[in-house]
Amino acid sequence: MTSKSPLLSRVLWCALIVMLSALFIHAQTDLTGFWVFKAPRGDGTFTESYFELKQSGETITGNTVGGRAQSPVNEGAFRDGKLRFAVSFTGRGGQKGGTPQTLTTTYEGTLQGDKFAMTMTGGRGGRAGRGPTTGEFQRTKAEAAMPPAKLPLPALHDVRDNKLARTPPMGWNSWNKFAGAIDDKAVRGIADAMVSSGMKKAGYVYVNIDDTWELGRDANGNITSNTKFPNMKALADYVHSKGLKIGIYSSPGPKTCAGYEASYGHEAQDAKTFAAWGIDYLKYDWCSAGTIYTDADLQAVYQKMGDALLKAGRPILYSLCQYGNNKVWEWGAKVGGNCWRTTGDINDSWQSLDRIGFGTAVPGGIRKEGEPAPPGLTQYDIAQGATVGHWNDPDMLEVGNGHMTTDEYKTHFSLWCLLRAPLLAGNDLRDMSDDTKSILTNTDVIAIDQDPAGLPLKRVSQEGNTVVYMRPLKGGDIAVGMFNRGDRAADISVSWDSLGVAGKKLQVRDLWKHAAVTVSGDKYTANVSTHAVVMLRVTAK
Ligand code: GLA
Repeated sequence: MTSKSPLLSRVLWCALIVMLSALFIHAQTDLTGFWVFKAPRGDGTFTESYFELKQSGETITGNTVGGRAQSPVNEGAFRDGKLRFAVSFTGRGGQKGGTPQTLTTTYEGTLQGDKFAMTMTGGRGGRAGRGPTTGEFQRTKAEAAMPPAKLPLPALHDVRDNKLARTPPMGWNSWNKFAGAIDDKAVRGIADAMVSSGMKKAGYVYVNIDDTWELGRDANGNITSNTKFPNMKALADYVHSKGLKIGIYSSPGPKTCAGYEASYGHEAQDAKTFAAWGIDYLKYDWCSAGTIYTDADLQAVYQKMGDALLKAGRPILYSLCQYGNNKVWEWGAKVGGNCWRTTGDINDSWQSLDRIGFGTAVPGGIRKEGEPAPPGLTQYDIAQGATVGHWNDPDMLEVGNGHMTTDEYKTHFSLWCLLRAPLLAGNDLRDMSDDTKSILTNTDVIAIDQDPAGLPLKRVSQEGNTVVYMRPLKGGDIAVGMFNRGDRAADISVSWDSLGVAGKKLQVRDLWKHAAVTVSGDKYTANVSTHAVVMLRVTAK
């Protein structure tokens, strides 16, 4: 047979071969197994999400693997070399101000050889609110997807007190404002601004880098920083040159909360690296440790790093971050902790502030497998758990981040000071309004936080949406906070009798008005605006 057109027949043959091979590939391609989605973050690191997939015809099912909770793969289909599926995550209420949120992430990819070129859209973007992320979806092994083994843990003992933080630590932390968008240049700028804005003069000293500085490990297993932080030692030297101190962040698990390299199996080595860089403060965040250890292991896991820091060769303030689980205020000091988080994450909203500051946001005790969590406690309930050098930490400040009113930020700052909380500003110090600066540098209120006696606060009264706290200060003065949680102004009174100063000659100062208050009679009454506070310092003679 002779061909009418050799070119046409060649084209037809080619088309046939392409169709047949496509059919063959697809017939042969069974996606059942373990897969990883790897996408570059732009700082030298990759996000990695693991899946176990099952294929039946064109339908793909399965679930995420390796994380704290497994989420099912929905709407999965593999057709004509294209894979698509969705995963819905329900955010932890405790971590996000009590509002559980369901976020859906969609994955869409095209088969190229034995991998997919894939785009991930939506979902767990975090505070930075990421757009679509492109990367590769490739086969992996079950072992790579699974958390590593639990390490043997030391027997419990009391870690020697490092004698740091005799008053609650003051400084700044990158997370609330910057999340992953923090780098060497911004940290230097913040250190400069801490000095030029008057924050340093008001007592702020630590410049703390939170999550996302990490890269991986070198050939000797030493942790390394990513391209956002080219030289940690040089950065620490710079911060020190300003008369300030520098902090860093890690986790006892293999990954940090943002999925970066962490200290699992390298605890002592990392403590030494941090000391060699000149680090003065470590925030140690549970996160992926929860996939390896149980809550019953918390104390031993934190003790391990507490011991490692003491041997690291430099005083390093130790900040525990495990969201208040297992009554950390009962053992945080024993593991060498200078402060410990008492709740999940704060966010820049009145709802979050009100819940963490006044509500039952503190985990009430030990969670038992298969049982509901014990009822939550308030910051006030656990105030006795903090002692000099070992402070309760209701999370970092949101003052100045823009989503609360000036009155709400004053309430935030006043309450944190009455609670003797660490004061870690969480805003951009390079760009502060006068209002923000005047709140953060109110030395009258800061003096309450930093009072050397470090005594716990007492509740004087609580009626409806109003609450009055007091705290005895060194030398006999009394700090008073009159808070209005309600949505309209309210008269709030405090009687001199309830403060134990009835009949004495009183001098009273309003710490936000920076003025003396004229007092007469047996009580003081103030009209307090919605979500506002009146803060007093009472001197009785
Ligand atoms: C957790 C902590 C936060 C912050 C992030 C970083 O959510 O509670 O304060 O450190 O991790 O990923």
